[in-house]
Amino acid sequence: MNSFNSPSFFAGQTVLVLGGDGFCGWPAALRFSSLAARVVILDNGARRETDRRLGVTSLTRIHSLQERVDAWRATGGGAIQTYDIDLAENYAGLRRVLLETRPDIIIHFAEQRSAPYSMMSPEGARHSVDNNIRATHNLLAALAETRLDPHLMHLGTIGVYGYATAGLKLPEGYLKVTAHGADGRAVDKEILYPGRPDSVYHMTKMLDQHLFEFYARYHGIRITDLHQGIVWGTQTAETGRDPRLVNRFDHDAIYGTVTNRFIVQALEGRPLTIYGSGSQTRGFIHIEDMLTCLTLAAATPTARGERVRILNQIAETSSINALARKVSRLTGAEVVHVDNPRCEPEGNEFEVDRGTFHDLGFVAHRFDEILGTEIAQLGDLLCPRGEGRRSSVA
Ligand SMILES: NC(=O)c1ccc[n+]([C@@H]2O[C@H](COP(=O)([O-])OP(=O)(O)OC[C@H]3O[C@@H](n4cnc5c(N)ncnc54)[C@H](O)[C@@H]3O)[C@@H](O)[C@H]2O)c1
Repeated sequence: MNSFNSPSFFAGQTVLVLGGDGFCGWPAALRFSSLAARVVILDNGARRETDRRLGVTSLTRIHSLQERVDAWRATGGGAIQTYDIDLAENYAGLRRVLLETRPDIIIHFAEQRSAPYSMMSPEGARHSVDNNIRATHNLLAALAETRLDPHLMHLGTIGVYGYATAGLKLPEGYLKVTAHGADGRAVDKEILYPGRPDSVYHMTKMLDQHLFEFYARYHGIRITDLHQGIVWGTQTAETGRDPRLVNRFDHDAIYGTVTNRFIVQALEGRPLTIYGSGSQTRGFIHIEDMLTCLTLAAATPTARGERVRILNQIAETSSINALARKVSRLTGAEVVHVDNPRCEPEGNEFEVDRGTFHDLGFVAHRFDEILGTEIAQLGDLLCPRGEGRRSSVA
């Protein structure tokens, strides 16, 4: 067992989880609580409200945040304090939470997180920018104003770089360049790797990066920006403890990821639908691995004055075809290609430098090792008595 996983590793530390009612934030709150941190959640319920407005829902039943927190306590977990505050709108409320809780670590998940949502209407695009940029900037401004010194960890995305052929291994945030001055002298520099987002959502994460660079340089804020891949999987060691703690499972067109879509299609005995050629390549990470990366990053904070640390948080890359083949092998599901409803490059190379987490000891779970177990667990979770389930996992 790694020492950061010892049950009291974060004892005495306060972890403020912004967006702690969401798919990634809830299991993260429970993981840090199980590692003895005092956990505080700030979430305004925006995601639940968006679900209601769009008529989409998690296939697993998500209890109210208060019921979830009470259930965690009832099953032996630590007390979790909650604040219903809009990070993008309520600067005074945020400032008060920071001063009351004085966090050692802040994990910032509180953003509109769907690329399709940001592209479906002008309102979706405007809301993504208004919410995400103001949320991140309010947080940074409040940290500068209060002069608190937590380690801020933000969930960004590897999609800030776009998915067009990169032609090189995507580095961890920075690119070494040589420019030539007027006198022809070569000047070596390291710059933020140029963003080239393919959606307004990804654009907000690119803009976040620049806010982080500024506030780290001018105000000494300690920041780790985690460029995460698509998170798949549902339950974690903690959310599986009680049905009231269960995590979200989204499979709709706005929030459902390709992994979830394939799994639901296979469980329902329907063909797996690949959008377009299927040679699009993406980065993936299982939710348990996301938690491991978060604890590793939290256990190795950056120092004041250090530039923003950017880490690629990805377990593996895979083409959509290869992923479909894996699900099909395990379930016997047929695979079909349909017209791609998305505007995205049809095929791309995608190589990512994952050196830092590797050096910190992270060993990723790969689809080949855990996809079968995950599908079986989901089948039981979504349909305990096998009702309506026409496929089984081989
Ligand atoms: N899920 C993924 O595959 C994935 C991949 C890469 C990066 N990320 C990033 O991780 C973060 C969390 O993603 P998720 O999948 O858990 O999303 P989610 O929608 O399930 O959770 C986000 C949470 O933040 C809250 N929130 C949003 N705006 C807020 C505001 N203004 N004030 C207070 N709370 C607010 C929502 O109510 C929700 O509970 C996002 O920033 C996302 O971009 C997610």
